[in-house]
Amino acid sequence: MAPKSLFKSLLISAAFTSTLGQTGLAPKAYLSLPLGAIRATGWLQDQLIVQTNGLAGHEHEFYNYVSQTDWMGGSSYYSSLEEAGSYWFNAMVPNGILANNTAIIQRTQQFLDYVLQHQDSTGWLGPEVNTTKPRYLWGRYPFMFGAIQMVEYNPALTDEVVTALHKFVSLANTMLHNGQGVEAWTQTRWEDFVMTLQWLYDFHPNNNQALLLDTMEQLKYTGVPWELVFESQYFPTTATENLRNPLGYVLSWHGVNMAEGLKALPATYRFTHNQTDLDRASQGWDLLFQYHGRPSGIYAADEYLAGLEAARGTELCLVVVSVTAIVLFKLPYILKLNEKGNYVFVVIGDPKYVDRVERIAYNALPATLTGDFWSRQYLQQQNQIAAKNMSPNPFPNDGPYSNVFGLEPNYP
Ligand SMILES: *[C@@H]1O[C@H](CO)[C@@H](O)[C@H](O)[C@H]1NC(C)=O
Ligand SMILES: *[C@@H]1O[C@H](CO)[C@@H](O)[C@H](O)[C@H]1NC(C)=O
Ligand SMILES: *[C@@H]1O[C@H](CO)[C@@H](O)[C@H](O)[C@H]1NC(C)=O
Repeated sequence: MAPKSLFKSLLISAAFTSTLGQTGLAPKAYLSLPLGAIRATGWLQDQLIVQTNGLAGHEHEFYNYVSQTDWMGGSSYYSSLEEAGSYWFNAMVPNGILANNTAIIQRTQQFLDYVLQHQDSTGWLGPEVNTTKPRYLWGRYPFMFGAIQMVEYNPALTDEVVTALHKFVSLANTMLHNGQGVEAWTQTRWEDFVMTLQWLYDFHPNNNQALLLDTMEQLKYTGVPWELVFESQYFPTTATENLRNPLGYVLSWHGVNMAEGLKALPATYRFTHNQTDLDRASQGWDLLFQYHGRPSGIYAADEYLAGLEAARGTELCLVVVSVTAIVLFKLPYILKLNEKGNYVFVVIGDPKYVDRVERIAYNALPATLTGDFWSRQYLQQQNQIAAKNMSPNPFPNDGPYSNVFGLEPNYP
C-alpha cells in the first residue's frame, strides 16, 4: 500500500498529461503507477524473494551475457547477444527495488552509469560504440524501459537519463529516415521504442514533440503492420511451419513477436487515432487463443505459431511477454476510496483478460520454472510428464532438449 499523498499527486499528474495530449498525441487513457508506488505483499512478495534468491538475482555474478567482465570490461557489454544485458537490466531494476536488494540496486545503477558514460558523440547507446558492427535499434529498447523506471523511482536521475534519451532519439530519427537501424527483428519490436517516445512526450518533451511524433510514425511505417497481421483473413488457423506468410513478414508469426505486436496497436492508437487499431488488438488476442490456445492460459508457438496439438511447445519468453502485454493494455484499473478510507485497486478490464492473466500467472509460468527459480525450460508442453531429450523431436524449429530444465536449454 502506498501513502495517500502519492496517489493524490498521481491523480493530478494524470490530469496534466491529458492537457499535454491535446497538442498531438492523444492522452493516455490510464496512468501507470511509477515503480515503487506500490509494493507486493503475500504470495507475490514471496515469489519476488524466490526470484531474487534464484537465477535472476544471481546470474550477474557468473553468467557471461550479463556478468561484470563482459558488460563493464569493454565496448561489448551486451556480449554477442546484444539485447541480453538490456533485458536483464529492464527486469532487475524493478526486482532490485521491490525486493529492496542492495546488491542488485547497485548493479543496475552501475549498468546505467556505464551505458550513459559510453554514449558516443552521435548519441548511440550500446555495444556498437567504436566498432564496425551494424547498428540495430532493437537491443536498446528494454534498456530504455529500465532507465525510465529508475527515473520514476529516483527523480534525481531525470536530467541525465532524459538528455541521453533525447540525444539517442535524434540519431534514431535520422537513421530511420535513411533506412538504417532496422532489421527483421527490429521490425517486429518497434512498439517498445514507441512506448519510450510516448513517455518522453508525456513527461519530458523538452520542446521536441514534433521529432518524437515523427519518430513514432517512422517506426510504425518501417515495422511490421500489426493491424494487418491480426486481421482474420491473414491470420493462420493452423500450425504455421508449412504455410506461406501472406504479408511477407516471416517473423510476424513468431510467438514472442506476436505478443509484442499486441502492445503495438494500443500504443499507436495514440497517434493514429484509428479505432481499428484497438479493435484489431482485441481480435488478435481472440484469434491467438482460438487457433493456438492452451488450457494453461497461454498459446503455442515453438518459435512460430504451433496450432492446437498438445505436443507442440510454448516459449518461456512468450509467457512473460504476453503477461506484460495483457497487464499493460487489457487490465486497466482505477483507484477507489473504500469505506475505510483506503485506496484500493479495481480492475475494470474485460473479465476474460483477468482469467487469461491468472491462468498464465498460476499455471503456464510456474510450470516452466523449478520451484526455486534456478532452472527453466525453453519450451513447455501441455500434459507432458517427461522433461527429456525428445525423440522424435516434436518442435520443427527448436532442439530436442527444449523442454529440459536448465540454465540455457536450447537458447541462453
Ligand atoms: C531497504 O533496506 C534498507 C536497509 O538495507 C532500509 O533502510 C530501508 O528502509 C528499506 N526500504 C524499504 C522500502 O523497505
Ligand atoms: C571511441 O574511440 C575514440 C578514439 O579511440 C575515443 O576517443 C572515444 O573515447 C571512444 N568512445 C567511447 C564511447 O568509448
Ligand atoms: C484505420 O486502419 C484501417 C486498417 O489499417 C484502415 O483500413 C483504415 O483506412 C484506417 N482509417 C483511417 C481513418 O485512417
